[in-house]
Amino acid sequence: MTLRILLVFSLVILGLTPASATDTAPSIEVWKSATCECCGAWIKHLEANGFTVKVNAADASTLAALKRQAGIGDKLASCHTAKIDGYVIEGHVPGTDIKRLVAERPDAIGLAVPGMPVGSPGMEQGAEFEPYDVLLIKKDGATETFASH
Ligand code: CU
Ligand code: CU
Repeated sequence: MTLRILLVFSLVILGLTPASATDTAPSIEVWKSATCECCGAWIKHLEANGFTVKVNAADASTLAALKRQAGIGDKLASCHTAKIDGYVIEGHVPGTDIKRLVAERPDAIGLAVPGMPVGSPGMEQGAEFEPYDVLLIKKDGATETFASH
């Protein structure tokens, strides 16, 4: 026990911290309608994947304005909009793709899963699965496929 404390203490002195301390939970802020159930299910998915989620209830016009300001056009829109580390996340984007985005830090607005594909996180309906793409939204509004599921 004493040895373990000594070890942790010397790691701290060296400017190193045990893995658990450096592995901070990514925090994400979400805007959604107060009654949206699939939004709530997506938030649970993020929490289960280690995200700390701040939730804001927003009415339809606030949400629409937020999407417009964020560069999310009608073709990319889904139910909820989120922000993490300077990026916008639109719709039912899997947590693994969000983690990859913030790790790779591409020059882009963010990620979108347009519409609400059945089987995406928060849109589970039994075993039903509709293949979908996660799109990377570039600064000029163009998109490219970031991941396919
Ligand atoms: Cu939804
Ligand atoms: Cu939603």
